[in-house]
Amino acid sequence: MAGSPVSTHSPGGDEKKEPETNNEQKAQMEQAYQQMRRKMRMTRLAEDVRHKIMVLSGKGGVGKSTVATGLALSLARMGQKVGLLDIDITGPNLPKMLGLEGTQLHVEEGQIHPAIGPHGVKVISMAFLIEDPDKPVIWRGPIKLGAIQQFIGDVAWGELDHLIIDFPPGTSDEPLTVSQSIPNMDGVVIVTTPQEVALLDSRKSINFAKTMNLPVLGVVENMRGYSVHGSAANSDGTPISNATIEISGPSGQKISAETNDEGDWDVLLDLFKSGGGEESAKEMDVPFLGSLPFDPGIVRGGDDGVHRIVSEPDGATADAFELIVTRLIEELDSADDDGVTII
Ligand SMILES: Nc1ncnc2c1ncn2[C@@H]1O[C@H](COP(=O)(O)OP(=O)(O)OP(=O)(O)O)[C@@H](O)[C@H]1O
Ligand SMILES: [Mg+2]
Repeated sequence: MAGSPVSTHSPGGDEKKEPETNNEQKAQMEQAYQQMRRKMRMTRLAEDVRHKIMVLSGKGGVGKSTVATGLALSLARMGQKVGLLDIDITGPNLPKMLGLEGTQLHVEEGQIHPAIGPHGVKVISMAFLIEDPDKPVIWRGPIKLGAIQQFIGDVAWGELDHLIIDFPPGTSDEPLTVSQSIPNMDGVVIVTTPQEVALLDSRKSINFAKTMNLPVLGVVENMRGYSVHGSAANSDGTPISNATIEISGPSGQKISAETNDEGDWDVLLDLFKSGGGEESAKEMDVPFLGSLPFDPGIVRGGDDGVHRIVSEPDGATADAFELIVTRLIEELDSADDDGVTII
């Protein structure tokens, strides 16, 4: 009869196959049990972490990791409990950016405890688990995705206000896996530079988020202009106050600047073009969170493991991050308000 249990007295070679069938069933049960455990951990994570934010970009090298670490540090400076998850499992670099390279993670009762970075930010990255950082890690699709899920589920984050998740570039499998694995994702922050190609790719990221039903919390425009300052003085050393002066920009381009009472001037040179991020945010009907200047200190900080926010907490980059984070919190709060139903 169809659907009846397999008879243990069936003739022929069936008896020989029985142990194999048992093993298969055991393996299937173990797999199902593991999946259930993982799901429970994800649900727990979703409950313990108030806001879960994915940082994406269509194009590589536009500053996702710089923005993800900056958001985390800036939020932590405001007194929030923050976690930072580096999903880039083939080229993880957050530990280096935060001076946490070589940290040994503490494992207790099968749970990985995050490393503690500046301002108490909890950090998890595959880089902590790779023995030789110079050896490329090659993961095949499904194994990589399984590893990501396990990786997320096995971390003891504790209670957090914000979990910032950094991704490799593009709208590939990783953001899909993460957004499907962690319930109640708050949304995505999209990083772009003002170049046309980057903007075009950021539109793809916005569309990806919309397709996934993930709210776009906002666009951050990175490397918008290069700030140059100086002082203007006459040959006798007296300052040239409140005047329009002309300076030589890149390729001899003439740029005018206004001096203040002390003769000091400050101009923002456009490296690519400016305002493209804001324009495309408007055009795509998503919030614009703000822009970050091109700051050579960010590159140095990335190499030395001291983030710009840590090395120059009152500098222009730290100030720009503070503005971005303030707008991000407003977006999160308004989304929270939308979610409340008063009966
Ligand atoms: N505002 C900035 N000013 C100057 N340099 C910057 C700025 N933002 C990022 N950089 C530099 O640009 C490079 C790429 O930045 P980052 O690693 O954050 O990009 P990414 O988008 O995460 O790259 P990937 O796609 O490889 O993950 C780094 O060397 C970083 O220091
Ligand atoms: Mg990166």
